[in-house]
Amino acid sequence: MIVCSCNVLSDHDVRSAVEAERTRSTSQVYRCLGCSAKCGRCARTIRRLMDEALGGAGAASRNGCTPSSQ
Ligand code: FES
Repeated sequence: MIVCSCNVLSDHDVRSAVEAERTRSTSQVYRCLGCSAKCGRCARTIRRLMDEALGGAGAASRNGCTPSSQ
């Protein structure tokens, strides 16, 4: 599902970035995915996905911020 229409980011993209980099802010998620916030409408959804990913999965990855090169 697309969660950011400005940057065409899916929920999977966001979860991958959060799990790879353990991002602590929405701006880190955008940066990790090679973009930046534009309209900001997706910020709340991205925050929720971050909270779910960081609170639930406990995935420990040391791959850094390169979701597209894995
Ligand atoms: S929908 Fe994500 S910045 Fe506009």
